[in-house]
Amino acid sequence: MKIILDVDPGIDDAIAIALAHKWPGIEILGITTVGGNLPLEKTTDNGGKILKLLGANYKVYPGMAQPLIRELKTAENIHGPTGLGYAQLPEGKEYIADKHGVDFIIEQVNKYPKEITLIGVGPLTNIATAIKKDPSLPQKVRGICVMGGAVFTQGNVTPAAEFNIYVDPESAEIVFNCGAEIILVGLDVTLKVLLTREHLEIIQKKGGSLGESIGEMTKFYLERYLDGNKLPGCALHDPLAVAVALDKSLVSMEKMYVGVETKGELTRGATIGDKLSRFNKKPNVYVCTQVDSNRFLELFLDRILDHTN
Ligand code: BDR
Ligand code: CA
Repeated sequence: MKIILDVDPGIDDAIAIALAHKWPGIEILGITTVGGNLPLEKTTDNGGKILKLLGANYKVYPGMAQPLIRELKTAENIHGPTGLGYAQLPEGKEYIADKHGVDFIIEQVNKYPKEITLIGVGPLTNIATAIKKDPSLPQKVRGICVMGGAVFTQGNVTPAAEFNIYVDPESAEIVFNCGAEIILVGLDVTLKVLLTREHLEIIQKKGGSLGESIGEMTKFYLERYLDGNKLPGCALHDPLAVAVALDKSLVSMEKMYVGVETKGELTRGATIGDKLSRFNKKPNVYVCTQVDSNRFLELFLDRILDHTN
């Protein structure tokens, strides 16, 4: 399977890239970056650093710096001023391509029709812009797997909204209604896959140099979670979206109409799942409702600790 990962690294984005990189049998065509957890310049630099750490044979394509119509809101409070927690990684500028991320998505999807899964784990500005520029794109992708939203649970930026959708609700609305097969991996499931201190110790002990760097990032992220969320660990949001895109059997899903609130004052970016078809609209999104957390965590650790690739 061919994938393009659209990211805003960001600690859990960085771990998601590592997980995809170590997933057997898939081909990563490239990474596109977007303004989100940090401004675009930093998410792109971080993308380059991570690809260097992984020794990747693909590149980072910088995409959109700002949401479609709103000012960018960032999340350094969760990811740290560099976006990678306590990790100090060497620069990876040689991994940053000249081509724009949106053009890269359009080019690749047209080159490999029906073969590419887009995995969006940041605000959806790049994917929405690609759809606006090339309206045939939704028919040509294999599917789009999105980390975003909170259909049945409370949000994490406001009570109503999850970060990625909150930052650029207009883009989310375009993507959800584009006609492609959309899978939504929201807080409903990502808050159930928690990495604890014990997991972190295993990664640091057994993960070699990649494990050390992931450990330095994750220590920071875990501290924010233990302080702020009263959860026993930190949520592996973006890694779960990668895993679901590649192995749907990890989750249960329900197809329903999901609308994005773009006008509300208190509810900006809320993802409203019409489970009972009250709006009478055609279901547009597969919403992940349950996750096999133990199986995901086992699989995650196995892949991250695998030294053969
Ligand atoms: C999402 O917000 C970002 O901070 C994370 O990287 C993840 O994509 C979780 O709400
Ligand atoms: Ca992200």
